Amino acid sequence: MRVARLDSETDFEGWRGHARALLCDGVAPEDVTWQVGEAQDSLFSILDAPAPPRDAGYKPRVSKQFLADAKLALCHRDEGRFGLLYRLIYRMQENGQLLSNTVDDDVIRLNALVKSVSRDRHKMRAFVRFRAVKDEDDTFIAWFEPEHRIVEENAPFFVRRFTNMTWSILTPYCSAHWDRKTLRFGPGAAREDAPDGDALEDLWRTYFAAIFNPARLKVKAMTSEMPKKYWKNLPEADLIAPLIASAQKSTAGMVEAAPTAPKRLADYAFAEPDLAPGDALAEMRRKASACALCDHACHATQTVFGEGPLDAPLMVVGEQPGDLEDIAGRPFVGPAGQLFDEALEEAGLARDAVYVTNAVKHFRFTPKGKKRIHQSPKVSHIDHCRWWLKAERKLIKPRMTLAMGATAIRALAGRAIPVSEARESGFDCFDGRPGIATVHPAAILRQTGAAEADALRASLVADLRRAKAQAFATAA
Ligand code: URA
Repeated sequence: MRVARLDSETDFEGWRGHARALLCDGVAPEDVTWQVGEAQDSLFSILDAPAPPRDAGYKPRVSKQFLADAKLALCHRDEGRFGLLYRLIYRMQENGQLLSNTVDDDVIRLNALVKSVSRDRHKMRAFVRFRAVKDEDDTFIAWFEPEHRIVEENAPFFVRRFTNMTWSILTPYCSAHWDRKTLRFGPGAAREDAPDGDALEDLWRTYFAAIFNPARLKVKAMTSEMPKKYWKNLPEADLIAPLIASAQKSTAGMVEAAPTAPKRLADYAFAEPDLAPGDALAEMRRKASACALCDHACHATQTVFGEGPLDAPLMVVGEQPGDLEDIAGRPFVGPAGQLFDEALEEAGLARDAVYVTNAVKHFRFTPKGKKRIHQSPKVSHIDHCRWWLKAERKLIKPRMTLAMGATAIRALAGRAIPVSEARESGFDCFDGRPGIATVHPAAILRQTGAAEADALRASLVADLRRAKAQAFATAA
């Protein structure tokens, strides 16, 4: 009997190393015992580490698809998964087509494990709800109870999605921690270790109520997509029953209601001269949050308005919020925002000394599977949204404006100017104030060559320095 010992329940690399060595030695599946953690029997401890294969020239056959499936299946709580996977790979050496035999018992079991783990992984991505940690800026904790051991496998997804946040995901068997640089794993935790409610919960409720369409209610499909066992950790769950109860009435109301007139710019007017600047900005923000001038406004989660001090001498204008900005409701908090923050720091500028906004205030995207793919705004969107940029500029009156990329230039100058030209010669904004241009941070992130990315990054920092010198020198 050979003993194959793994470091942990999800030690895929360990399983792979053992499987390779066992196959090379021609060890049959029934002659292997799989153990996790410290050796349970000292008689076997000598065989714990993968034994060096006896036949160094032999190369086991394995498909990429099997390895991908095995990695997922290993996260399952089924005790027999290590043995099942080894039996499959052992049999595949004789029968390369084994996995296509969908009536084979081992294949059926593998597919069931993969399906169950994939579903659990999907639910974790959909139902993890971060709550802000009190008195700690941008630090969030989520509590989740997965069915399988999926945290290690799933954590990189959350790193990509919430790169700019410091977060922890706590589960009963394992915790994942991201500090914006490093991903670490720790022991399991208890529900009480995660904060309870916060202001973000209202955002989830608003979002859920906004996407709930009473005319398309299918309770069975909804509860299958959002199983009840997850409800206790979802802030929006307490809306489900009342929304379902009122669905019929709301639908009848929608049928009977007269058609609504399209919104016009005048609908967003506000009494700016009568308001103190701080109140005017708050009022502008409130009106903009209901803006529906563009066809894509209703698809975005929310309006992402500019932010910064009212007396900022420098205004920086980007293109439009991205996926993460749309969720967070703040400009430049995603990957492009991280690069922007680093460039600001290098240029000696504090982010909170600058007014940061976008030419277009709603995220425009096209859905692709579960992803939302960025789409550039059309000229009509830029022109409509100039209403808000004008209002912001009237209030902030920046001494200098830095336009990042072609959309910002078009919005500020009212016409298309090549970035290189606007960067070199500067341009007049629609209100007569001076502007200079620079490359958009997202364009730097898109570079595949390191040298090109470094050069563009250096020019962004140089342009920020230039803008700072002009904005703040005049201010002094
Ligand atoms: N890109 C932008 O132009 N603006 C943002 O807020 C984020 C990404």
